[in-house]
Amino acid sequence: MKWNSTLLDHLQWSDTIINQEAKQKVAQQISDKVKTGDIIGAGSGSTVYLALFAIAKRIKKEGLAVQVIPASLEIAMTCENLQIPVTSLLTDRPNWCFDGADEVDPDRSLIKGRGGALFKEKLLIRSGSKTYILVDETKLVNKLGTNFPVPIEIFPGSLTYVESALKEMNVIDIALRLAKGKDGPVITENGNFLLDVKFVDIKANHEQQIKSITGVIESGLFIDYDVEILIAK
Ligand code: 5RP
Repeated sequence: MKWNSTLLDHLQWSDTIINQEAKQKVAQQISDKVKTGDIIGAGSGSTVYLALFAIAKRIKKEGLAVQVIPASLEIAMTCENLQIPVTSLLTDRPNWCFDGADEVDPDRSLIKGRGGALFKEKLLIRSGSKTYILVDETKLVNKLGTNFPVPIEIFPGSLTYVESALKEMNVIDIALRLAKGKDGPVITENGNFLLDVKFVDIKANHEQQIKSITGVIESGLFIDYDVEILIAK
C-alpha cells in the first residue's frame, strides 16, 4: 500500500537555485551517461537535484533499470518523489557517482559541503570507481578558499577541543554554522555540528591534518581525488 503524501509530492528545492540555466545544462550532460543496470551515487545540492529530474525523464521514457544511492535526505526524498529506485551503501556499491561542488581548483581539488552533506558525499566518492563533478563556471577558482570557507563536520561534544586544535593551524576565522528555521546550530543528518573555517592558505596536507583532529568526522576538502569535472556549456 502506498502513502498519499502531499508533502512529498509537492517537494521543492528549499532555496533559489543560483545559476539555474547553467546547472540545467550540466544536469542534461550527466543524464546522457546513464545506462540500464547502473547503480549511481548521487551527492547533494541543487545541481544534483536538477540532474535527478533529467535522469528521471530518461528512466521513464526509455524504461531504464537504474538505482540511486543518495547522499542526503533531501536527495533521497527527491528520488522518492521522482520514482527513482534507491538503494544504500550497505547493500550496493556505486558503479559511478555524480555530485556538485562549491569550488574546483586547476588540479581538480574541491571544496564541498555548503549543503552540509559532506561526510556521505565523501563516502560515496570513495566507494565508487568514477565520479563526475558537475559545476558551472562560477565554481572554478585558482586557489581553494577563494569564495568559500572549508566546512568541517564535528562531534558536538568536541566543539571546544576541535576549535583549539584548529587554532594551531593557519586559520583566519572559525564559525559554528547556525540554522535557519531552527534556533541554534545546524545539526547534520548524522547529529553533528558544522564549522566553517577560513584558512590563510589551503595546503595539500590540510585534508589529512584536519581529519586527524579527534572529534572531526570529516571535512569538505577533497584534495587530489580522481574526479572528472563536467563544466556547464
Ligand atoms: C553539498 C555540496 C554541494 O554539492 C555543493 O554545495 C554545490 O551545491 P549546488 O549544486 O547547490 O551549487 O557539497 O554538501
